[in-house]
Amino acid sequence: MDSDKICRKFTEFFERKGHVIVPSDSLLPTDRSVLLTTAGMQQFKPYFSDADKAQQVLCCTRAASIQKCFRTSDLDEVGDDTHLTFFEMLGNFSFGDYFKEGAIKFAWEFLTEEMKVSNEKMHFSVFEGDKEVPFDKESVEAWKKIGITEDKIKKFGRGDNFWGPTGEEGPCGPTAEIYVNDVEVWNLVFNEYYMDRKMKLTKLKQQGVDTGMGLERLAMVMQGKKSIFETDLFEPIMKKIKELEKEKKVEERAMRVIADHAKGSVFLINDGIRPSNVEQGYILRRIMRRVIRYAKLLELRSDYFDELVKVVVKIYKKRYPELEKNEKEIIAVVDEEKAKFEKSLSNGLRQFEKLSKDNEISGADAFLLYQSYGFPLEITKDLAQEKCVKIDEKAFEAEVKKHQKASRAGVEKKFGGAGGFGERVARQHTATHLLHSALRQVLGDHVQQAGSDLTPERLRFDFTHPKKLTDEEKQRVEAIVNDRIKEAIPVTVEKMKYKDAVKAGALAFFKEKYPEEVSVYSVGHFSKEICAGPHVKNTSEIGGFKIKKEEASAAGVRRIKAVVG
Ligand code: GLY
Repeated sequence: MDSDKICRKFTEFFERKGHVIVPSDSLLPTDRSVLLTTAGMQQFKPYFSDADKAQQVLCCTRAASIQKCFRTSDLDEVGDDTHLTFFEMLGNFSFGDYFKEGAIKFAWEFLTEEMKVSNEKMHFSVFEGDKEVPFDKESVEAWKKIGITEDKIKKFGRGDNFWGPTGEEGPCGPTAEIYVNDVEVWNLVFNEYYMDRKMKLTKLKQQGVDTGMGLERLAMVMQGKKSIFETDLFEPIMKKIKELEKEKKVEERAMRVIADHAKGSVFLINDGIRPSNVEQGYILRRIMRRVIRYAKLLELRSDYFDELVKVVVKIYKKRYPELEKNEKEIIAVVDEEKAKFEKSLSNGLRQFEKLSKDNEISGADAFLLYQSYGFPLEITKDLAQEKCVKIDEKAFEAEVKKHQKASRAGVEKKFGGAGGFGERVARQHTATHLLHSALRQVLGDHVQQAGSDLTPERLRFDFTHPKKLTDEEKQRVEAIVNDRIKEAIPVTVEKMKYKDAVKAGALAFFKEKYPEEVSVYSVGHFSKEICAGPHVKNTSEIGGFKIKKEEASAAGVRRIKAVVG
């Protein structure tokens, strides 16, 4: 059975069982406390404590989805038979509706009747109980009711059979898991608890279900394959890599990493993420650069990245039609990153050879490769493994922290000095915040700050957006900023914990990691950003705002130059 058919059967089955089918959320999650969407339940998080809200918004207390997910937690395992960074998760959800018995019955019926998986191939697991959360005997009873014998039901602890929360707090609970041919295929989470930031559990006032089944793993079972890389979701990519190999080195692990990371890159770019040195952008950069390094190792034909993008689009375009629309843009982004990294890659590899002479890469060595040659840690780790050299990862992390601290102090000095450069650019700086919010209002929430540079003469602002702005869009943006200036809105600043700031909806951008406590600058309800300042005290001080130029800065990134006064 091909994967498109599996998806169709899944949604049809759950629709028949009274679920509303909700489209996949973006990989850039609604819930800003996490970097990427890692599970199907994320877009439904509020409903687990508020079934009425689910009823209001979804008109239903049952939902099902096929969610695009990206997990960095499995990065090191990519290359084996069952782990990926990007994958799709089939899930059904109950918000104060059915609970353990219902979820187990649905899962059983779907697998045995729709997918025709034989009972003999399956085994199950439930939560064994600990000091806080009791043994899940209801799930055992539910399995027994459908005829599963107790010897097929294993019991495990928190590490295996307890799930959540995503981010720092949220719904979570014990799980019942289904294994087919010893591979975990479906995770049924019973959301009975809420875990707060101190990891304290309280019982939720309603019971919920959140299930997740990896499409690639199910496809592996349904297509009788030994690895996810042999399924129809990967086979065309693996075939293409082999075609692109001049010397036929056929390093299976390297090919698998390329296939997984190239696909992940396509989907992250498609959802508006661009390679950078921070947050989501750095996750994308890490996987793209790993593709580029492995492609060099395998000596792939030079247009390999474009070709890989095209196969990925071909596999998925039926279910994600926007991929085809964005194909050119995605290719432009990968080409640009490839050109950028290829410049430093050969020198970096030579530097690695030198540094690894005494059989160990120290934290400072790994940091040099990262800082001066743009090597993400994964690449240095791959190289160390290939050359059987030791690498001190902990010392590398410590080195990164040390440098972040130093550069933050530098930036604060640059922008903070009373009476100096800092004060003279305050007007440009506040205007930048207004511009950022105005762009999001006119163009959409995909707009993210990608860089900015201020001089007393002008401001420059880079942001993610796929197209040239029309004259009308420029005029609207300019008018919105000028309206806010005329309204003479006071600019306020508040110190708060980074996580709280993000929760409160503050926009964040910075080349470095934020400290735990940050300053949040607000212009009424119009703009709220984490920022080191300085800013004017009232928008009227800006005087006026005029866009001088709008141009491309990099693939998928536009640049506005403007003046104030
Ligand atoms: N939310 C369930 C899972 O990710 O397995």
